[in-house]
Amino acid sequence: MMKVRSSPSDVETRRAVGWVSILWFTAAVSSAAGQGVTLHTTSQEAARCGENLTLTCEASSSRPLDIKSFSWLFLAKNKSVCVADRPCDPEFVCDSAAELLVHRLSVTLLNVMPANQGDYLCKLHSTFGAKDSTTTVTVQDCLGGSGSSIKEAFARCWFSGVYPSGTVHWSQGKDNFTRASSTLQQVDHHGRYNVSSSLDIREGNPNQPYACSLWIPSAGKTLASLMVHPVGKQENRSSGGKVQLQWICVLVGIMTFMI
Ligand SMILES: *[C@@H]1O[C@H](CO)[C@@H](O)[C@H](O)[C@H]1NC(C)=O
Ligand SMILES: *[C@@H]1O[C@H](CO)[C@@H](O)[C@H](O)[C@H]1NC(C)=O
Ligand SMILES: *[C@@H]1O[C@H](CO)[C@@H](O)[C@H](O)[C@H]1NC(C)=O
Ligand SMILES: *[C@@H]1O[C@H](CO)[C@@H](O)[C@H](O)[C@H]1NC(C)=O
Ligand SMILES: *[C@@H]1O[C@H](CO)[C@@H](O)[C@H](O)[C@H]1NC(C)=O
Repeated sequence: MMKVRSSPSDVETRRAVGWVSILWFTAAVSSAAGQGVTLHTTSQEAARCGENLTLTCEASSSRPLDIKSFSWLFLAKNKSVCVADRPCDPEFVCDSAAELLVHRLSVTLLNVMPANQGDYLCKLHSTFGAKDSTTTVTVQDCLGGSGSSIKEAFARCWFSGVYPSGTVHWSQGKDNFTRASSTLQQVDHHGRYNVSSSLDIREGNPNQPYACSLWIPSAGKTLASLMVHPVGKQENRSSGGKVQLQWICVLVGIMTFMI
């Protein structure tokens, strides 16, 4: 034990030294004890939206383990998603298995969405002390659906269930028409994007198809491409409603201009 001279004026010092030695002792014991067990997780996992992703944590020990707690924690929400031998939320499936010197705890994230991204910490408390290990989950290459149409002077295309966010590039043959387009991005309740874009096609060749592609800047790649044919079924459908809509747009345009 550490010797501290006791005089009333020394009480604060003695307390401080006492705390420091307790902390030091605890740290030393847990690091020495932790050596009897290794915890293994993969450091990175990537999934597409809608997939199921299983994270596995494996504890191996030199002697049989007496486990006090074994769990997976989602750090972004400070939420325990899986605790060994306990029921978990319906959005996860938890599974634990044990052999003599190996214990496994796996959690399956069902229907992965952008909100599931982040660090997952596997924590083990046992007679050997405390250990933890982290897996980082990313969500990428998500695309739910897409569609295109041509109405009057505009070609339109949309991509839904997109993640990470994207933009739309337009071209016709070798000509890049992206600058003549306008793109809108809406977020759905899962955090995915619906990216829709329209292009004024009066400048292009009316007999050639346009290509619209979904470009994901953060990934540096094109996730999908559609061909939009100017001579299509929808071209004939110019109803009175559309004409009225055009007039409303013109009026709104004039009003905006006046303001
Ligand atoms: C994910 O798991 C659930 C439940 O086990 C299953 O019903 C579903 O089909 C799985 N989804 C995929 C994409 O594998
Ligand atoms: C995380 O949650 C636990 C209880 O579940 C709580 O004791 C702890 O303070 C929380 N930590 C943070 C950083 O919110
Ligand atoms: C088309 O132009 C846009 C910018 O206007 C650019 O980001 C894109 O890379 C171009 N696409 C091609 C295929 O050159
Ligand atoms: C995406 O947005 C476009 C344009 O707003 C819309 O026509 C389309 O139905 C949307 N798709 C989904 C799946 O929400
Ligand atoms: C579109 O118009 C052309 C000729 O003007 C006609 O042959 C064709 O059947 C029309 N298509 C539809 C879907 O109405």
